[in-house]
Formats: sequence, structure tokens, C-alpha cells
Amino acid sequence: MSPRIKVAPSLLSADFSSLAKDIKRVEKAGADMLHVDIMDGHFVPNITIGPLIVKYVRKVTKLPLDVHLMIENPKKYINAFLSAGSDMITAHIEVVSIKEIKAMAADLKAQGVKFGIALNPSTPLSRIKPVLKFVDFVLIMSVNPGFSGQVFIPSVLIKIRELRKIFKKDIAVDGGINALTGKKVRNAGANILAAGSYIFGAKNTKKAIDSLR
Ligand code: DX5
Ligand code: ZN
Repeated sequence: MSPRIKVAPSLLSADFSSLAKDIKRVEKAGADMLHVDIMDGHFVPNITIGPLIVKYVRKVTKLPLDVHLMIENPKKYINAFLSAGSDMITAHIEVVSIKEIKAMAADLKAQGVKFGIALNPSTPLSRIKPVLKFVDFVLIMSVNPGFSGQVFIPSVLIKIRELRKIFKKDIAVDGGINALTGKKVRNAGANILAAGSYIFGAKNTKKAIDSLR
């Protein structure tokens, strides 16, 4: 049986001048968690938010916070994001060693926080195979990380399918997800769908979220 489909609205597309209101909106519309994109201007060309804002997001919602670290040195900041109230933390395979992953996995497990490994569209699946046993989920990027509103890269579907054959836990997909691409990634075996512009740009938030299940 395939795992339940979960929808993770990405706050990157929310209106930060009324963030609490936007969070309530997706919460009411049935979001399963909130996807929070952390960018440092080094690993990716963009800069977004840090632990301070995550702490305030934590105050206004009970939804699990799925914190996607697109930063060069995740190990250095992981404790700050834990104290801020993260429930799930994802680091990128492109910037962490297997040794660091092992240590982070043990650390997060001890604190009851789920740990995920992310990989960019151009990073082959073989890079994460040695660490699959240490992680709770894999986040497959379907755009080059850095910005919301980009177009889904269809070649990642093969990666999702291949991963599903060997990995029974959660597979998340992030980037360019809408009703159409959502269906494709679900069929390929993904079960957590992160979506920013599609959900926050929709007239009917509930309909948009439902269409991804
Ligand atoms: C991209 C981020 C994504 C982004 C998704 O670097 O990691 O989470 O917010 O936005 P959409 O769904 O608009 O592609
Ligand atoms: Zn993301």
C-alpha cells in the first residue's frame, strides 16, 4: 500500500506582510504541514529567512514545520532551527558528508525530529543511496532550488520511480508542483507534495490543496 499523500504549502509564496493570516488560510484548507524554505545566498542565489521567523511561524500554527535548509553549512545552524520549533529538517546531499549525515540523523532522532535528505535535479540518485538508511524521508527537487514559481523538470520523474523501488519511507517532491505535475509525481511514487505558487496563488486554497491529493 502506498503511504498517504500529504500536502506541504511552501511559505516562500505566502504574503510575509500578513504571514499569520496566510498560514491560517492553508491550515484551514487542509494543509498537512508547512514547508519553510531557508536560503543563504551561497548554496542558492537567493536569501530568505532564518530561525527568528521560524520561531514566529511556530507560534501561530500547530502544523508540523518542514524546514528545508538550502544552506551551505546545515550542521552549523541545525540547533538554531531546532530551538525555533522545527518538526522536520532537510539538508542537501550536495553540501554534507556521509559522516555529518550520520551525526545529524542520530541527533535529530534523539529529539524526535524527522530528518530528510534533499537532492537537486542534476544530482544522481546514486549520491543518496549510502545514506538512505539514516533518513526518514527524501526530498527530490523538481526545480533548481532558489525561487518559487519555476517550471517542473520532468526528468525527475524517473528518479522518483527508481527511488520508490528501493525506499519505503516518505518521498517528498518540491518545485513546480500543480494539479498536473502533482498527479505525475504521485503516480511515480511520491507522497509528500510541497507547493508554493500553486497553492498561495490559487483563488480557492482548499480546492488547490485537494487537487494535489
Ligand atoms: C525552491 C523551494 C521550493 C519553492 C516551491 O527552491 O525549495 O519549496 O518554494 O515553489 P513552487 O511550488 O512555486 O515551485
Ligand atoms: Zn523547498
